[in-house]
Amino acid sequence: MNSPSPKAARRRHPQARPLLLAAALGLAALGARAGEVEVLHWWTSGGEARAAQALKATLQAKGHTWKDFAVAGGGGDSAMTVLKSRVVSGNAPSAAQIKGPALQEWAREGVLSPIDDVARAERWDELLPKVVADQMKYRGSYIAVPVNVHRVNWLWANPEVFKKAGAKPPTNWDEFFAAADALKKAGVIPLAHGGQNWQDLTLFEAVALGQGGPEFYAKALVQLDPAAIASPTMEKVLATFKRIKPYTDKNAPGRDWNLATGLVIKGEAGMQIMGDWAKGEFLAAGKKPGRDFVCLAAPGAVKTFSYNIDSLAMFALKKDANVKAQKDLAAAVMGAEFQESFNLAKGSIPVRQGVKLDRFDDCAKASAADFAATAKAGTLLPSIAHGMAVSAAAEGAIKDVISNYWNSERMTPADAIKRLLAAAKMR
Ligand code: GAL
Repeated sequence: MNSPSPKAARRRHPQARPLLLAAALGLAALGARAGEVEVLHWWTSGGEARAAQALKATLQAKGHTWKDFAVAGGGGDSAMTVLKSRVVSGNAPSAAQIKGPALQEWAREGVLSPIDDVARAERWDELLPKVVADQMKYRGSYIAVPVNVHRVNWLWANPEVFKKAGAKPPTNWDEFFAAADALKKAGVIPLAHGGQNWQDLTLFEAVALGQGGPEFYAKALVQLDPAAIASPTMEKVLATFKRIKPYTDKNAPGRDWNLATGLVIKGEAGMQIMGDWAKGEFLAAGKKPGRDFVCLAAPGAVKTFSYNIDSLAMFALKKDANVKAQKDLAAAVMGAEFQESFNLAKGSIPVRQGVKLDRFDDCAKASAADFAATAKAGTLLPSIAHGMAVSAAAEGAIKDVISNYWNSERMTPADAIKRLLAAAKMR
């Protein structure tokens, strides 16, 4: 059926004219403020993509155009390389996933833009833990918005595989090796691993925290204190780390982290040590926590928490409509609704304080409780493998040493320590 002409409609409904006018004005207003948001991220795996979709839907609901700028590669090294070339050529996106101390490094380049008006209107100072708020600011101004809190030192296990192997989920490193032996005997890969440098460092920091303890971790991997790096504890941690290798499979080199998670999901491997973005993969595969998979603190790490906070840094833009879209992005990301929907898919917990966790699973509830408890006890620590602890240069150099050590037949813990001491100077 043809739609009636506005004139005919007005004849039947005299009030239609003002209504039509208002609708037209509304559309014009929406058109004027609608902009484009381009967000650089590396959320391309099953669970990550579901979370990124929540971000896209939120912005589209506000009338903006979403331009996806996804650069695949866990841990984000490739994404950072692409971002640098885009910014250098004067073509920065609206926002990019930039985290930890790197936020300050980018802000010093003068390419980020303050979003204090949004932060003030949305009361971010009241809604964020102070340590997080401080990290999002450069010279007192917000230049980034935090998305979530990931816990990095988790162990994910397939309970059915453990049952078949007669193995007990480990709580410390001795138990880890006992379980790994039982799993090996049962013919499954004990530990699903992907041999990429950031995954090697993720595993290494779990050993450093679980075996060396929080004080050692803070001194050696956050403060980069030479005495802690050269200590007998570091030697022990390096030896334990290397002892894990025979419990990984020969196809591990180069494997993406989500494919490693896939091995646990399928029951081909018993465990994975990885941040809770891995939970996003289990959930995306329709698996239920507590039934199909379990989350445990990484061995020896019960009272510690290594965190990884995803955040979106805001770049200076020229077009007013795009600036408006960018501000809407920032406001939406800190909104309670988005913090719930995004983090349910991502495996993380909301960074905004006071969001109800009713719809979250027990792993997320445990994470939130441990986050609060470790913050109080002083054992809440930044993940070095995920850009939270040290400069990008030092992190990169340490990553290389740890991967070389993991892959080398000849390098001893003492050799690795010598190289770590040199890497730590790259501040
Ligand atoms: C981390 C990032 C997470 C997750 C992971 C794997 O660095 O913070 O959001 O995506 O990499 O790609």
